[in-house]
Parts: sequence; structure tokens; C-alpha cells
Amino acid sequence: MKIGILGSGAMGSGIAQVAAQAGHDVVISDTSKEALDRSKSKLAKVMARLVEKAKITAEEASETQTKISYVTGIQDFVDCGLVIEAIIEKLEIKQKVFADIEAVVSEDAVLASNTSSLSIASIAASCEKSERVLGIHFFNPAPLMPLVEIIPAIQTDEKIVNAMRALITGWGKQTVVAKDTPGFIVNRVARPFYGEALRIYEEGFVPEGPAGFASIDASLKQLGFRMGPFELMDFIGNDINYAVTCSTFEAFYYDPRYKPSLTQKSMRDAGWLGRKSGRGYFNYAEDVEKPASVASPSLVENIGWRILVMLINEAADALYLKIASRDDIDLAMTKGVNYPKGLLEWADEKGIQHCVDTLDNLHTEYHEDRYRCSPLLRRMAKNSETFYGSEEM
Ligand SMILES: NC(=O)c1ccc[n+]([C@@H]2O[C@H](COP(=O)([O-])OP(=O)(O)OC[C@H]3O[C@@H](n4cnc5c(N)ncnc54)[C@H](O)[C@@H]3O)[C@@H](O)[C@H]2O)c1
Repeated sequence: MKIGILGSGAMGSGIAQVAAQAGHDVVISDTSKEALDRSKSKLAKVMARLVEKAKITAEEASETQTKISYVTGIQDFVDCGLVIEAIIEKLEIKQKVFADIEAVVSEDAVLASNTSSLSIASIAASCEKSERVLGIHFFNPAPLMPLVEIIPAIQTDEKIVNAMRALITGWGKQTVVAKDTPGFIVNRVARPFYGEALRIYEEGFVPEGPAGFASIDASLKQLGFRMGPFELMDFIGNDINYAVTCSTFEAFYYDPRYKPSLTQKSMRDAGWLGRKSGRGYFNYAEDVEKPASVASPSLVENIGWRILVMLINEAADALYLKIASRDDIDLAMTKGVNYPKGLLEWADEKGIQHCVDTLDNLHTEYHEDRYRCSPLLRRMAKNSETFYGSEEM
């Protein structure tokens, strides 16, 4: 099957590489000739590096490159069985291009969007055959990240969902199916990792500035996370992370659980965007040493656990609201953001009652809806159930 990719930016180029390496002919289209040229030369560099590291042979490298053609229009999508859109994150523009693409492709071609934040239903609504539209959400960088979220809209035909899941699994990815709701699985469940860490900082449980950020990071690394929230926000970029938080907050009708942080807003306002600007929560100048980060057992117990239980609550609520299955929620967080363990598995290990008690204590202390315990956790605690004790979940 020939694959069409619209948009040759970071994501489109990465997805094109994955599809070509899986043996497909790929046509990648972009309105910008410069973006196409950049994409082509970047792929050449990536391929050369893989050959150098003996990950692929020189023949495989040149075969992958010859499988991809670069064009500025969409006419060449005519014989594609699947077109994946990865252009600018603006609904009206995506709706327009989906309608344009539908006019070019065959009756049975599938159309997918790689959007991180827009509703698939609203994109699908721009097509006459909206049942052939779904979300196929890769993570950045697409060739390296193992997870892909498959998102059916309410209009999507189930047969297409199953076929696309099988196709993408065949590309060597681990797929999970997520309901068409803000943040899908990963970007929704991960919110407290940042939000609760910022809240704890703002409440003054740790010293002001980098030393405080480093101790919160340390308390999570001690629990097995590869990076702490502040290091990770600096890595992602505070502008990007803040924008995702704001759009999630809005999309959830201002649920206080997703409330953005003024501390992060100041970082964004100051241009302290993280690694890319040389300064964020930490200073990345060569002559500045990063504060030592060792977490005391009580810091891990109080801060690390408070953030972890908020993540567990979010994962449990995602299951409760049927955003995805138990296994897909745990897989998404371990493969999409490298969590050391699935959050529901972690909840079992910590004890469901302990999770409920911690959340209830927070709720009693703050009287804020932010700390409401998921009804699923409460029900499970009452019935002495565990996530992995009941196979049908
Ligand atoms: N960057 C990430 O980490 C990430 C991760 C997952 C999903 N996404 C999603 O993937 C999509 C693309 O993100 P990106 O980071 O690759 O963006 P990008 O800005 O790197 O690239 C977008 C490309 O689309 C092209 N383009 C814009 N409008 C177009 C049009 N009408 N027709 C054809 N080409 C057009 C631009 O010229 C540009 O080359 C977005 O929907 C984003 O939400 C991004």
C-alpha cells in the first residue's frame, strides 16, 4: 500500500521514514519547498548515521530513501491507501486539507490525522465519508518512540480502526486505542506529573529556585522515573508544555485538576523556555553547576508519592471514563513517556486503599475538587479489588 504524508516537519518526516522502512512507497507533500528539502537532507543524515552504527546496511538506507518522493501538491495522493496528515495544529486548516484530500483519493482510502490536541470528530466532519477518518498519533521522534495512539472518532468505522491498528503494529510500533477526548491517553494522564510538581513547588515545600526544582525531580527519580518533572519540562520547552496545559484545561471545561501554573507562565513569559533557550527551571550555561539532587526518604514519601498518586488517580479515571483499556493505559505510559511501571499496576502495588486514603487526605486538607478521588478507586477499595486481580478490566 502506498502511503501519503501531508506535512514534512518533524512529525511528517519521521512518520514517512517509519513507513518507508516498513517497505511502503511513500509520498510526502508540503506547501513549503524548503521544508521538503530539509526533510530529505535530514533523512539522508539519519540514514548515514544508522549505516555508520551498523543498524542498517547501505542498501537498506538507499532503498528507504528511494521509496520516498517529495512533492508540493496533493495530486500524488491519488493512489495512496492511507494518508496521514501532520501539518500545523489549526482546526480550520486541517479541515480544509482533509476535504481537499478526500476529493483526490480513492473511495476506500483511509485518512488520518497526527494531531495532538484537536478533536478527531471535528476533523472527520469535514469529509463526506467521515467513517474513514481517524487519529493516528505518533510521538516525537516518530522513528524512535515505540508508541502510537489510534483514535477513532464517533464517526469512524470499527473495521478501519482494526485494520489501521494492525498496519501500524506491522510497522514495529506498539499501538493503543484511545477515545477521542482531550489529550487522548498519554497527554491526559501525564498532566499531574507537571501540574502537581509545580503546585508543590508553589506551596513552598522545597527551597525557592533550582535547588527546590532539583529536590522535587530527585524525589521522582528515586521512584524510578528517568527524568524529574522540571528537567522534563525544560526538555520539552516551557512554551510548549504551558500551551498544552492551557489547551487541556480549556478542553476539559476548566476542571481544576488541569489548572495551569503561574510559575510556568512566568518561565514562558521570561523566555526561559528550557534547554533550547539555555535557561528554564535550571540554567544550562556551561559554567553553572546543576544543584545536587538527592531526595530524603521523607521527601520521596511526601512529594514523590503525592505526585504519583495524582497520576494513578488520573489513570484510574481514564479507565473509569472508558478512555482506554487497563492494558492500553499502562502500556501508553510506559512506552509513550517511559514511566518505569504502568500506573494501574503501581496502584495495585501501593494498595488501592492507600491511594484512596492519600487522595482523601489531600481533599480534606485543601477542600479542592482537584483532589477528588476517582469513583473507580473508591469502589475498588470498598470491594477489596485490584486492577490486575480482575482480568475483565
Ligand atoms: N512535534 C511534536 O512533538 C508532535 C508530537 C505528536 C504530534 N504532533 C502533531 O503533528 C502535527 C505536526 O507537528 P510538527 O511538529 O511536525 O509540525 P512542524 O511545524 O514541524 O511541521 C508542519 C509542516 O506542515 C507544513 N504545512 C503547513 N500547512 C500545510 C498545508 N496546508 N499543506 C501542506 N503542508 C503544510 C509546514 O510547511 C511544515 O513543514 C501537529 O498536528 C502536531 O500537533 C506533534
